Amino acid sequence: MKAIRIAMAGALTATALATFGASATATGPYPGPDRPQSIDQSLRDLGKRHDLRIGTAVDMSALANDATYRDMAGSEFSAVTAENVMKWEVLEPQRGTYDWTAADQLVAFARAHGQRVHGHTLLWHNQLPGWLTAGVADGSIDAEELRGLLRTHIIDVVSHFRGKIWHWDVVNEVIDDNAQLRDTIWLRQLGPGYIADAFRWAREADPRVKLYLNDYNIEGVNAKSDAYYDLVKRLRGDGVPVAGIGIQGHLGTQYGPPTNAPENFLRFDALGLETAVTEADVRSVMPIENPEISAQSHGFSLLLQACLITPRCVMFTVWGFTDRYQWVSGFFDGQGWAAPFDENFAPKPAYQQMRVDLALANGPRKRDR
Ligand code: G3I
Repeated sequence: MKAIRIAMAGALTATALATFGASATATGPYPGPDRPQSIDQSLRDLGKRHDLRIGTAVDMSALANDATYRDMAGSEFSAVTAENVMKWEVLEPQRGTYDWTAADQLVAFARAHGQRVHGHTLLWHNQLPGWLTAGVADGSIDAEELRGLLRTHIIDVVSHFRGKIWHWDVVNEVIDDNAQLRDTIWLRQLGPGYIADAFRWAREADPRVKLYLNDYNIEGVNAKSDAYYDLVKRLRGDGVPVAGIGIQGHLGTQYGPPTNAPENFLRFDALGLETAVTEADVRSVMPIENPEISAQSHGFSLLLQACLITPRCVMFTVWGFTDRYQWVSGFFDGQGWAAPFDENFAPKPAYQQMRVDLALANGPRKRDR
């Protein structure tokens, strides 16, 4: 028997409705004084009232070869993230030789569809090019050279996309699940200062782009998000240009939901940071049964509502909008069904729930820019 724990977001929904001032009784499920919002709109259109961009990670092969995927990617969302084509292994497959092709295609697609581009990611410990990992492994690239390569890569990439990227995930997943700085080649070779250096080099290449940290399992208040809270305070105290934190949002219905997500989002907001849900998906152990269907809706809704009550939460992005092109089944044996649309592009209850959440929530959040 699969242990399914339904999210407690039901309670949150009621709380949020009270917070939003939406009268869930007198006029039915519509916000109080405003004209009832029809939910029969796209996520991007429903997000406009909240100054919130709803995004998706984009699989460039699907975008090129699947017309339904391409149409929905362009019409349902107001932001896009490169699932893979802005990562180091793709952009710089040979040392000093860049291949901008696929990434530039995504930027062009976004421009054609009035979408903003969330850049992912300048520095990670995964999907590094073979020439770099081999050089570090065999010692032919020492710490000083590695630091120079990192600086050059960041400056080259941020310069290439200058004026075209909304925010960059400057560093991705730099804290591990024990709430310690992750043991990577970057930490081992360059020391903990590499994080601040990466942000400063990105700022050197573009004085305007917003710069983010990004990680998973930091949706709620826990030791890992505490570690990020402390890291961000320290970095900003040292004048490092951290503008936001990307909260990935990879959830599973077999786990307890992060029910204190609103408290967590709001504490980062109170630091003056932007927040964004950058990679939301809610997977389940297959086969899917009714409890998981409900739990998936609650999971997406919990993250979206946490964003909606956070003044500077600027983006809510799903990590692939359809099960047809979704990373989970390739990474977690026997798990899947993580996206808001199924493999035939049919909307799931989770998609309808997100539309209701967007329609019910009060309007623009007061934000000092
Ligand atoms: O491009 C090669 C292709 O040439 C080759 O034939 C094929 C088979 O080996 O592999 C292809 O590369 C794959 C790549 O996705 C592009 O499809 C890699 O094997 C595969 O490992 C890679 O997976 C990506 C994963 O990051 C890598 O860790 C997923 O698509 C991507 O969704 C996932 O995204 C990450 C975020 O960047 C960071 N947060 C977590 C999230 C999920 O892991």
